[in-house]
Amino acid sequence: MSVTFNFLGVSVLALLLAGYLGQHFLPPPKPRIVGIDLGTTYSCIGVYHAVTGDIQVFADDLHQTIPSMVAFTPDGSKLIGHDALCQAEQYTQNTIYDAKRFIGKTFDEESLRKQAARYPFKVKLKNGMARFEVNSDEVTPEYVGSCIVSELKTTAERNLGFKVNKVVLSVPAEFDEMQRNYTRKAAELAGLEVMRMINEPTAAAMAYGLHKQKGVSNIIVVDMGGGTLDVSLLTVYGGMFQTIAMAGNNHLGGQDINQRLMEYCCDLIFKRYGQLLENPLDLQRVRLAVEEAKINLTTHHSVLLKIPLTSLNVKTMFVEQLTRETFDTLNEELFKKVLQPIQLVLDDVEMSTTDIDEVVLVGGSTRIPRVRRLVADFFNKEPNVEIDPELAVVYGVSIQAGIIGGMWPVQVSAIEIHGRKVRKIQVQ
Ligand SMILES: *[C@@H]1O[C@H](CO)[C@@H](O)[C@H](O)[C@H]1NC(C)=O
Ligand SMILES: *[C@@H]1O[C@H](CO)[C@@H](O)[C@H](O)[C@H]1NC(C)=O
Repeated sequence: MSVTFNFLGVSVLALLLAGYLGQHFLPPPKPRIVGIDLGTTYSCIGVYHAVTGDIQVFADDLHQTIPSMVAFTPDGSKLIGHDALCQAEQYTQNTIYDAKRFIGKTFDEESLRKQAARYPFKVKLKNGMARFEVNSDEVTPEYVGSCIVSELKTTAERNLGFKVNKVVLSVPAEFDEMQRNYTRKAAELAGLEVMRMINEPTAAAMAYGLHKQKGVSNIIVVDMGGGTLDVSLLTVYGGMFQTIAMAGNNHLGGQDINQRLMEYCCDLIFKRYGQLLENPLDLQRVRLAVEEAKINLTTHHSVLLKIPLTSLNVKTMFVEQLTRETFDTLNEELFKKVLQPIQLVLDDVEMSTTDIDEVVLVGGSTRIPRVRRLVADFFNKEPNVEIDPELAVVYGVSIQAGIIGGMWPVQVSAIEIHGRKVRKIQVQ
């Protein structure tokens, strides 16, 4: 009897000792759970590293995000991300993008036709849901999603040097249960077990650690990407997030800003050379130049546009100095529209700007200084912008993945509760 007892005592002591030594001297646990932001236009993957608390975002050597695009080539192979984008002109009909706008959604003939009309690829109805037609084959939106997830997973594994098999995913706050289920399916098809799904605005707020901050209960997240603007109001109590209001504009984003700049350049070219710019190659050059100039103007006050034009009677280099003032003036009307859904969200819950404790900016278009200024002035408060606005969501899901994986240093856990169904108000 006493022998057994002793033996037990020694085991317990050994266990305690092992635990103590383990915490101090064992190598940190490896991150087996990744975080994925499967976006409409761009996607990315990250991991949380124990001990250092660093978040690492992978994609390829040049980018931290990949285009959410899959090309199905006639020889039966697939190109994903940047490779798909490079080939997009060649395989227009077989290059699928924006699959997220179709995933887990039910359509009738009419609603699908309307939605599909905006794309160069073919979409057909099957059992009330969308299928993409590629090379006389059919693929589902979740399959396209799984190709992107698979590409991200491979990249992360290559960088980490070991396999990952679990994921925390972000989804738009407005996604219903079916859209969430099909997004989960996309990850499962790529061989990942989904540990949790977090609303995108919540993930962004978590990236800033707002659940750990004292005195923070109401958070506004403004997400302005390439084509859409989404505003969410979150409440946080004791580490629990809840989305209580949403509003958005489905047709306001970086593409609209580029369009304004395009028109400005084409007008100048017409005034200067007396000719309309219609040649597709020249138009494409202007399109790329204005995108670059837009990005440049987020950090510079002025940028020199130099665009070679080959289709005019006189072959020429179109040169124009574009200042941030001109850029702001051209887009002022678009920028002001950013405030509309913010006001709608506040009205919906009868709050005023002074009730908002923190403002978080997400999405590439929130890099624009004028947009930041307008939002800051509206709330009379500086928004959170320190994290790259295109990576805030993936940072948030990666932190959650770290918490679930039990990585130390111990993080204050955060969870999301789904209360009453929140309706998203659309700006007309
Ligand atoms: C979503 O998946 C869950 C779990 O598999 C299932 O219980 C539920 O019925 C599904 N909901 C929809 C709307 O498909
Ligand atoms: C941005 O514009 C400035 C001024 O024209 C130029 O010096 C700089 O190289 C540009 N940067 C990029 C990344 O295009």
